[in-house]
Amino acid sequence: MTFLITAGPTREPLDPVRYLTNRSSGKMGYAIAEAAALSGNRVILISGPTQLEIPDGVDFIPVETAQEMFDVVLKWIDIADVAIFTAAVADYRPANLAEQKIKKQEGQNRMTLELVKNVDILGSARALMGFSGLLVGFAAETENLEQYAKSKLKKKGCDIVFANDVSGADTGFDVDQNALLMVTKNQTKDLGRHSKKELGKMVVQATLEHLGKGCRFEEPCPPECC
Ligand code: CTP
Repeated sequence: MTFLITAGPTREPLDPVRYLTNRSSGKMGYAIAEAAALSGNRVILISGPTQLEIPDGVDFIPVETAQEMFDVVLKWIDIADVAIFTAAVADYRPANLAEQKIKKQEGQNRMTLELVKNVDILGSARALMGFSGLLVGFAAETENLEQYAKSKLKKKGCDIVFANDVSGADTGFDVDQNALLMVTKNQTKDLGRHSKKELGKMVVQATLEHLGKGCRFEEPCPPECC
């Protein structure tokens, strides 16, 4: 099977030397990519800038901005059976990209940045890109994990959303451990707290199990499903 995975942060340039980004390390997405490749799948890993080594056996496509990530996903999603979106895509980018370095102005103690909304890549997978495979999203939250995950599941047309709490210092962004809540249409399952490597294997396993159960029914799906 072919897995398409997005990972890492995006960088949204403001001028030739500055950009907006976030604290995503890419570790969760790379761990999933590694586990999927190790279990014999083709993996296309589309990643924003990270400090990580590219896992063995994956086709790696580096990107910087949300728009670049969107374009590459659009190009490759057709051949994927499973698409897993772990990237921490910047929701907004600077409205203007200055050609030259922005200089500070004498006497100007405040500055307002105008931002414009980026495209929602995961949210475009079904309607805009016509993806009909298994669609998996992530939800980074600081409160109401299950509730927000359920609403993202529905709004973005996902089969599974893995939610993680990014408010603590020891799970979530930029650390080696994470704790995931798996939310499907009919079920919420706490996968517990583990290393991201371990969770990568669990995510791939859960995804394959979900496919195996043939959860591709119209609502309501039968009781034996997902
Ligand atoms: N995502 C995406 N493109 C975006 C924003 C998010 O593909 N422009 C994907 C992420 O990769 C993740 C899911 O959507 O799989 C949810 O991302 P998250 O940051 O948790 O939520 P948002 O949709 O950005 O909503 P909010 O920031 O309001 O919680």
